[in-house]
Amino acid sequence: MPLSSVAADADEQAIPYYQSVGNECALFDQAFQQRLPMLLKGPTGCGKTRFVSHMAAKLGKPLYTVSCHDDLTAADLTGRYLLQGGETRWVDGPLTRAVREGGICYLDEVVEARKDVTVVLHPLTDDRRLLPLERTGELLEAPDDFMLVVSYNPGYQHILKSLKPSTRQRFVAMSFDFPPPAVERDIVARESGLEPDRCAALVNLAASLRAMKGQDLEEGVSTRLLVYCATLIGAGMPILEAARATLVEPLSDDADVQEGLMEAIQATFG
Ligand SMILES: Nc1ncnc2c1ncn2[C@@H]1O[C@H](COP(=O)(O)OP(=O)(O)OP(=O)(O)O)[C@@H](O)[C@H]1O
Ligand SMILES: [Mg+2]
Repeated sequence: MPLSSVAADADEQAIPYYQSVGNECALFDQAFQQRLPMLLKGPTGCGKTRFVSHMAAKLGKPLYTVSCHDDLTAADLTGRYLLQGGETRWVDGPLTRAVREGGICYLDEVVEARKDVTVVLHPLTDDRRLLPLERTGELLEAPDDFMLVVSYNPGYQHILKSLKPSTRQRFVAMSFDFPPPAVERDIVARESGLEPDRCAALVNLAASLRAMKGQDLEEGVSTRLLVYCATLIGAGMPILEAARATLVEPLSDDADVQEGLMEAIQATFG
């Protein structure tokens, strides 16, 4: 075997598994090459985070992931002066590190972030590609291999918490959803180790559970939960028990809704 293919095999192993569904890998790749920031939208557990880790590894770039929340300040992203051994020293935040060293900065649930965070993102996500650090007086220019990726779940988007048009319109955007059944079966099988046929039955069940979304359920059952369910079944747990713990309890606290979900599960597996 030639040496080069050994190296390629080794690289393959370091790349997190991601099963593509459409043209998302090519689009991400183009956005990266053209230095454009990217916005990913989609329900919980549908593969957004996995996709970004896969692409970062494929491009051979470090990934800096930040989960946004309403206490997150611009300084948490850019950095701050810290007292260390009697001296104050500037310490870069994840965004600044990615801008200085190159890499992908991924802001998860970006709608949760405070207004001052978006102010920092604006000059970085238009053609200027600049990160001003007021505290140090620096104006950093993002290198060609810096990319900003943000994601959010439009499902539980609060009216007050949507992105401003001036922020949204700085990104190349794409929507994620649960994969088509045959693809989801393969993903669940690969992630859990359960036989594909048994995974196909879970994926079919997911379709009927997802159809209940909207009535009393905020979100349909995710691919992530199907993987959990298949993992527990693969470990020997009875199907109904595994399904209750992974496809019912995480979805709702309401007894009637839980009963409705359990009925659908029993209709398939009971
Ligand atoms: N296309 C896919 N290829 C491989 N694995 C996938 C894919 N889609 C979903 N998964 C599986 O589903 C799990 C959840 O995906 P992930 O964590 O990326 O979801 P997410 O969209 O980031 O969710 P959240 O919005 O809650 O953060 C992964 O750990 C993986 O097991
Ligand atoms: Mg995620």
